[in-house]
Amino acid sequence: MFNRMKTCFLLYLLNLIFSLQSYLSHAAITTISANQSLSGDQTLVSEGGIFELGFFKPGKYSNYYIGIWYKKISEQTIVWVANRDNPVSDKYTATLEISAGNLVLFNKPSKLVWSTNISSSNSGSVVAILLDSGNLVLRNRPDDDAIDPLWQSFDYQTNTFLPGGKIKQAKKTTQPQYLTSWKNNEDPSTGLFSLELDPKGTYSYLIVWNKSEQYWTSGPWNGRSFSLVPEMGSNYNNFVFVLNQNESYFTYSVNDLSILSRFVMDVSGQIKQYTWLESTQQWNLFWSQPRGQCEVHSFCGPFGSCSENSMTYCSCLRGFEPKSVSDWNLEDHSGGCVRKTSLQCEGSDHSNRDNEGFLAIHNMALPNNAQFVGLGNAVECELTCFKNCSCIAYAYDSNGCSIWNGGLIDVQLLSSDDSSGKILYLKLATSEFRDSSKFSYRARVIIGVVGAVIGIGIFLALLLFVRLRQKKKMLATGNLLEGFMVEFGYKDLQSATKNFSEKLGGGGFGSAFKGTLADSSVVAVKKLEGVSQGEKQFRTKVSIVGTMQHVNLVRLRGFCSERTKRLLVYDYMTNRSLDFHLFLKNDSFEVLDWKMRYQIALGIARGLIYLHEKCEDCMIHNDIKPENILLDADFCPKVADFGLAKLIGRDFNKILTTMKGTKVYLAPEWLSRAAITAKSDVYSYGMMLFEVVSGRRNSDCQVTFFPTLAAEVVNQGGSVLSLLDPRLEGNANIEEVTEMLKVASWCVQENETQRPTMRQVVQILEGILDVNLPPIPRFNQVFVDD
Ligand SMILES: *[C@@H]1O[C@H](CO)[C@@H](O)[C@H](O)[C@H]1NC(C)=O
Ligand SMILES: *[C@@H]1O[C@H](CO)[C@@H](O)[C@H](O)[C@H]1NC(C)=O
Ligand SMILES: *[C@@H]1O[C@H](CO)[C@@H](O)[C@H](O)[C@H]1NC(C)=O
Ligand SMILES: *[C@@H]1O[C@H](CO)[C@@H](O)[C@H](O)[C@H]1NC(C)=O
Ligand SMILES: *[C@@H]1O[C@H](CO)[C@@H](O)[C@H](O)[C@H]1NC(C)=O
Repeated sequence: MFNRMKTCFLLYLLNLIFSLQSYLSHAAITTISANQSLSGDQTLVSEGGIFELGFFKPGKYSNYYIGIWYKKISEQTIVWVANRDNPVSDKYTATLEISAGNLVLFNKPSKLVWSTNISSSNSGSVVAILLDSGNLVLRNRPDDDAIDPLWQSFDYQTNTFLPGGKIKQAKKTTQPQYLTSWKNNEDPSTGLFSLELDPKGTYSYLIVWNKSEQYWTSGPWNGRSFSLVPEMGSNYNNFVFVLNQNESYFTYSVNDLSILSRFVMDVSGQIKQYTWLESTQQWNLFWSQPRGQCEVHSFCGPFGSCSENSMTYCSCLRGFEPKSVSDWNLEDHSGGCVRKTSLQCEGSDHSNRDNEGFLAIHNMALPNNAQFVGLGNAVECELTCFKNCSCIAYAYDSNGCSIWNGGLIDVQLLSSDDSSGKILYLKLATSEFRDSSKFSYRARVIIGVVGAVIGIGIFLALLLFVRLRQKKKMLATGNLLEGFMVEFGYKDLQSATKNFSEKLGGGGFGSAFKGTLADSSVVAVKKLEGVSQGEKQFRTKVSIVGTMQHVNLVRLRGFCSERTKRLLVYDYMTNRSLDFHLFLKNDSFEVLDWKMRYQIALGIARGLIYLHEKCEDCMIHNDIKPENILLDADFCPKVADFGLAKLIGRDFNKILTTMKGTKVYLAPEWLSRAAITAKSDVYSYGMMLFEVVSGRRNSDCQVTFFPTLAAEVVNQGGSVLSLLDPRLEGNANIEEVTEMLKVASWCVQENETQRPTMRQVVQILEGILDVNLPPIPRFNQVFVDD
């Protein structure tokens, strides 16, 4: 502490001594003028200390660039780059200075690297100032902030659109303006993805690849927001459209200047909005578009294959390898893949048919630049492609024969249960088939042997376990070692439940019954229906589900698997399930007060975090709804029915999506057949939060769908108490109600990347994270049960 004070004092002294000269390398300056240039480690700092400009080095081996970043946050976040395509190798010999009325970057000796390049009549007193908005401006005098600047960086943004920035529409006399991604995360040079205002004047933003191929649009501005992106609107982010004789552009602002917010045209080809969260010292992603990574044109490059179900998205088609491994490692896949073995295409007669063959790749979304060559049949189609050297792939289906020449771009691998998947036949050198089949044969043998060993191990362990259990019959009463599960006989459970007489609840996956074991502990016995899993698989899966133990999960005590019967034995929860308390208007339960509701919401979220992240074999619950939230004697919430997807097997999805009373909780991706992720649980959780507040089912007939109504009231700062369960008679903490509704609205966003994680939900409910006003969620589903 004392040392630090001494250092501070010393620094202060040094500053004092050198402040008239610019020798001190770390000194910050406030303007760049004819007499004050910037070099080395010097920086230009905005008046309020928000932004800083200087030389930076984005990667370990990269050169130097002049950039602007946030001064106060630990993670250097570059918002603007001057010389993105012309780096300098030495920051000590390069200088940023005023020259002939322009701000210019010189490299030794006086080589011009970058310039603001304006024709200015008044060159004597021009100064460059960095404003607290992050805008670098050139002015005639330091104090003339009334007049338009001679030049401003907000007119020439790189990849970041800051509040107050502009992306202008091209005029006849001007170049179109783009917000263009970096090449990769360590290289700010002009990348392939750009956001622009539609040059055709439709007042829509477009994202274009290589400034030519459009793959996304925001939809036109409707006066309040962009039709396909309500998050970019006047309610939210204060988007406005400015049109005057000189320029037309959109800009946005934040109400609370202490909130740092930025839009980025990301290297992923998506536009993303981030806000800085002081509490976690992290950038929080609020939304991104386009929604699917694979919707980004040529994201994986030629012969790359994109999959939304893979963490890394891109892989090479078989027989191909990344063109540049180092680029791929930096998440720049644009170079795509190249053949491992080139094709030997020798003239059109193709006498040697053995050199090439076709590999069938299943579950593909086919690239759309096919050439259609008529109906014919599959054999003719193959022959057409085979005979032409420039043909590299074909597909044949009921629509006829399509062939691809030259390159394959935007190949997408769908999940195996997606019925829209097609088969693509890819031309490869025959040697590729031999190599890969040899390999896969060996791999298969290894997998087989390893699998058998593991299988035998599990079998022996189970055998031992069963023997142990039979010897100590008393253990079957449920007092088994913590974390171990008991296997019950069907007869035992039949008698424990008095022949399944006291039903606790039902559902598509089977009904639950109350029972009392021999040691007089009370349990809930669930008779599973629709199990398509074999006995062995069921035992393996049930042992996995049995290891999931958390204070907010119902404990699975044991199971029964006899012939076709599959039962699960859980701890019994005295206070039944949440739906009883929220929706049943009778006197058997007291009304859950607000405090309890808040704690219940938090508890459920913690249980879900455990399911999603903490356990060793993580899972998605898939069926979060009040019926599956049980309450113990102290009203501590316990999530029930987790792991059923594993236990039921292949029919799980079918049962779930047709189950009565469940549709309203299902995320839209269940219907659109997109990938189901942990964010699908977040959606269901959000739907349930609305019900925790209102005490009514969202699916109850109402003039406005309750979640939409609630989001609107919150957005307009209306009275949230009007939304509250009337039985609470207004007894609730208004801030907590607002917070819960905000979280709920974020959770039910159609686009799952906008939904928070369960971890973030907990942080928000605990007051650690702040949350912005949510966009009004859109619901396209029809919730009427068949
Ligand atoms: C720059 O310095 C010269 C003398 O060294 C002085 O005459 C001039 O006024 C200064 N210009 C500015 C803009 O401060
Ligand atoms: C400056 O602009 C002129 C035309 O206006 C152009 O020819 C020149 O290349 C530009 N220089 C730089 C460094 O951008
Ligand atoms: C982008 O377009 C330019 C021509 O406008 C072309 O030279 C370049 O090769 C293209 N880039 C890629 C990656 O295809
Ligand atoms: C448009 O440009 C002209 C000439 O540069 C300028 O005088 C005028 O004030 C500008 N109009 C607006 C609305 O900025
Ligand atoms: C092969 O296909 C290309 C592109 O469709 C076409 O231009 C060429 O004529 C074809 N060659 C033969 C031998 O059919």
